[in-house]
Amino acid sequence: MKKTILTGLRPTGNLHLGHYFGACQNYLKMQDQYEFYLEIADVQALTDNFQHPEKVRLNVFEITKDLLAIGLDPAKVNFFIQSKIPEIAELTIFYSNLVTVSRLERNPTVKSEIGQKKELFGANGESITYGFLGYPVSQAADITVFDGELVPVGDDQLPLLEQCREIVRKFNSIYGKILKEPQQVLSSTTRVKGLDGNEKMGKSLGNAIYLVDDLDTIQKKVMNAVTDPKKIKKDDPADPSICMVFYYHQLVNSKDTVSKVCTECKKGKRGCVQCKKELIEAMYQFLQPIQQRRRYYEEHEEVVLDILEQGSKKAKKKATQQMKKIKQAMKIDY
Ligand code: TRP
Repeated sequence: MKKTILTGLRPTGNLHLGHYFGACQNYLKMQDQYEFYLEIADVQALTDNFQHPEKVRLNVFEITKDLLAIGLDPAKVNFFIQSKIPEIAELTIFYSNLVTVSRLERNPTVKSEIGQKKELFGANGESITYGFLGYPVSQAADITVFDGELVPVGDDQLPLLEQCREIVRKFNSIYGKILKEPQQVLSSTTRVKGLDGNEKMGKSLGNAIYLVDDLDTIQKKVMNAVTDPKKIKKDDPADPSICMVFYYHQLVNSKDTVSKVCTECKKGKRGCVQCKKELIEAMYQFLQPIQQRRRYYEEHEEVVLDILEQGSKKAKKKATQQMKKIKQAMKIDY
């Protein structure tokens, strides 16, 4: 029997290279090894986008197309929409008894997100909603309703997984050993730096290259990328380790090219403009097959709908079985 793996993505925007190298590249290997559930977490996305339902809806389809474009195979991965599985919402209510409000307030991921969303939740988080504070509980339901054993996530998600395990332990100690404690699968590159040198590439930071970016957009972004500030003239030697252009060469180029770029840069034999142009070309080549596959799904919206429909059906089946066991254990199986 294959182990069950589950992960989720909030549909709030298109996938960028940070998602690709930080997480999605790993899914490609995992799809052959596991029973894979991939949740498009629209309900979770609404916790901080409840005023923008149209944005969330649009991005459910955008993100699904991005995921198919990178080469995930719908015959191996069950793509499903969170809101199509009401069992998750039901289980969230049951779990909400097993977690204290102060424990949620101490969750480092939730804390830092509240800090980033001052407009929505107030300067000191005083306007935090019940829904946003509680999303870790809903995420625990996401994972356990599918009996998820492995969860591939970035390191920013570890506190959520820890909270999930606590809920599982509490549930099992009260109602009997029904649930599995999920384990994280960390990717080798968990965080991809932004073009501006920021530690993280992110939509809100405006420093991301999207999988859907065309040549013109890539050009503009790469031309503005941060390089060694000490390098003024074309033949000044520079330090590639602090240059974002070199950093991205490492992600999209072959080992040989990377070592050539590195030596030439250190010796002052490579101008930044030329180096950026080569990176633009390499990135464009890297994104070509992804964008070609994506075009097929853009032209066949009905295929995307069908993939989500079929995946949601399979997910629903699995969730129904698990809910039956949970309700029996909780003595609410009337
Ligand atoms: N919270 C995750 C994120 O923001 C998305 C997510 C939703 C998730 N449900 C999940 C991740 C279940 C792992 C498992 O990226």
